[in-house]
Amino acid sequence: MDKKTFYITTPIYYPSDKLHIGHSYTTVAADAMARFKRLTGYDVFFLTGTDEHGQKIQRKAEEHGKTPKEYVDEIVAWIKELWKTLDVSYDKFIRTTDEYHVKAVQNIFRKLYDQGDIYKGAYEGWYCTPCETFFTEHQLADGKCPDCGRPVELIKEEAYFFRLSKYQDKMIEYIESHPDFIQPPSRRNEMINNFLKPGLEDLCVSRTSFDWGIPVPFDEKHVVYVWIDALSNYITALGYSLENDGLYNKYWPADVHLVGKEIVRFHTIIWPIMLMALGLPIPKKVFGHGWLILEGGKMSKSKGNVVDPRVLVDLYGVDAVRYFLLREIPFGADGVFSNRALVDRINFDLANDLGNLLSRTVTMIEKYFGGKIPAPGIGDAIDDELKTMAEDLPDKVEKLMDGLEFSGALQEIWKFIGRANKYIDETMPWSLAKDSGKEQRLATVLYNLAEALRIISVHISPFMPHTPAKIREQLGIEDENLAAWESIKTWGRLPAGLSVSRKEIIFPRIEGSAQIGGEESKDGEIKTPSESGKSSEETGKASEDARSSTDKAVDGTKEDGANLISIDEFARVQLRVAEVLEAEKVQGADKLLKLSIKIGEEIRQIVAGIAKHYAPDQLVGKKIVVVANLKPAKLRGIESQGMLLAASNGEKLALLTVDKDIESGARIK
Ligand code: MSP
Repeated sequence: MDKKTFYITTPIYYPSDKLHIGHSYTTVAADAMARFKRLTGYDVFFLTGTDEHGQKIQRKAEEHGKTPKEYVDEIVAWIKELWKTLDVSYDKFIRTTDEYHVKAVQNIFRKLYDQGDIYKGAYEGWYCTPCETFFTEHQLADGKCPDCGRPVELIKEEAYFFRLSKYQDKMIEYIESHPDFIQPPSRRNEMINNFLKPGLEDLCVSRTSFDWGIPVPFDEKHVVYVWIDALSNYITALGYSLENDGLYNKYWPADVHLVGKEIVRFHTIIWPIMLMALGLPIPKKVFGHGWLILEGGKMSKSKGNVVDPRVLVDLYGVDAVRYFLLREIPFGADGVFSNRALVDRINFDLANDLGNLLSRTVTMIEKYFGGKIPAPGIGDAIDDELKTMAEDLPDKVEKLMDGLEFSGALQEIWKFIGRANKYIDETMPWSLAKDSGKEQRLATVLYNLAEALRIISVHISPFMPHTPAKIREQLGIEDENLAAWESIKTWGRLPAGLSVSRKEIIFPRIEGSAQIGGEESKDGEIKTPSESGKSSEETGKASEDARSSTDKAVDGTKEDGANLISIDEFARVQLRVAEVLEAEKVQGADKLLKLSIKIGEEIRQIVAGIAKHYAPDQLVGKKIVVVANLKPAKLRGIESQGMLLAASNGEKLALLTVDKDIESGARIK
């Protein structure tokens, strides 16, 4: 049987400048989706490319003393390198200067003209050169461009127009009867209420004031103006209107166009109307994602607040950067890019949760079973929760991915990773190993952990192209069938007897933080840990530091200033006064103290990395400040049910206390 097809596109990028992390965000998301669909059995076509015509590029080239083509050739080569660096697995890269595209756009223009949907008129309007967009008076925002806020010029010239107005009612009806077409739903309402209902004006689709564009085939003093040239890439790349249109017949209509929120309007009004006029099917979905924001607003070269994705990849590795982009911000929303948040994700999610699960498991298989994955022996009810969760995961992840909820899908996968780590703490393999009668139980525990890791390696593969192979290599898995989606739907496909081998840590913990915002990056402050590659199976070393707030107080970075939170976000952190009832050292961990604290009527235990600064009896009776709603975590096998706050400048450390007596449990606001 033929596979089901899946056609996904990114916008085509302007090669007027090098791209930044905001552009990479769209492409990495599209790539994760393309990889996911391939993994789940689809025949995928993933298109990206460059949008190379227009006045802005012509001007830029002139500034550089180059022809437009010379200028874009260099940037396009750079962009292709960037996609290689980020492991973007596109099937085709279209350039709007490609000959076949030029020909197909001319075919489209002529057809629309011949059938009366394009006509000649005169245009007078407000033009934003950087956005290459005309606006009517009422579309301007305070007399400026409504998209970028820059000044606009009044321009009058002979031009061709596309009869958008003729299709307005049909378009409203289409959007209303296809609720999935525009996603997320908030963008759908915006299109209907702000653009369609107030009335569509015919669209100017040619220009005579510059010549870097596709000539109008029957009137060569005009060039085709931006949107007909750019939007049609999604079908010309497949050979539409050309001799070889096999790909068009196979893949069109697109399953999803991923676009940034500011170009949703073009993709959900102009583009479907063009397709209606051509008598072609309309794409199934247009998803408008939010922006990555840095100090000064949306990243842009002109504001000087861009982050170079290559620098991030050099510092942290491609898988970590990709993970961060897709995990940190729900796909529809805007999100602030911060280096601090990136480092935290690497340290907590990747080094601690995933990295330690692997190193603990492999270390224990080496230590207790001579490096061979044991066959499962005696089971226990506790195993079922892990198995059930594993077996439920593929469906959950697939649903979330189908809704382009990358962050949600990763959260589900990480819940499972968390469950597997908890399974180690619950089953305590190191104590099973001490008991000679428990070998069969120990075998089951370690088999289950290895199987969980195999399953995790498959789930993360769309997001992280390199890590899965590293995980499977350490587990001794060579059989490709064990990396297949179908193979993770039933628990227990991992054969016993494979030889594990400990290799370098898959995600070294990052100590310190680099300044990444702006043009320059300083990597002098970044250190990778000097860990030997061994982590204690009982503790997961990297987690030891993770719970003291002082350890998180790494040097402020430039972009942290922009990382503002709302009062609602702050309100999610419950800070409470707690009284220390008891304190003692944690054996074998020279930084840690275990405290018993009282928050109101509740007694809790917390573990804090303050042993070098406070003796246990200095603490008893003190009223301290704790984060009361932090997820519990285990440190050295001891559960910590909260986190105390302390100030630190690296060497000194001072606990936060209250300056008047107030009962424990009091809220801090
Ligand atoms: N050439 C047009 C698209 C034509 S599609 C038929 C274009 N190009 S662009 O290079 O300016 O932008 C390409 C994409 O990058 C857009 O979807 C835009 O939203 C996205 N991004 C640019 N900066 C971004 C962020 N800071 N954050 C997220 N996405 C960003 O528009």
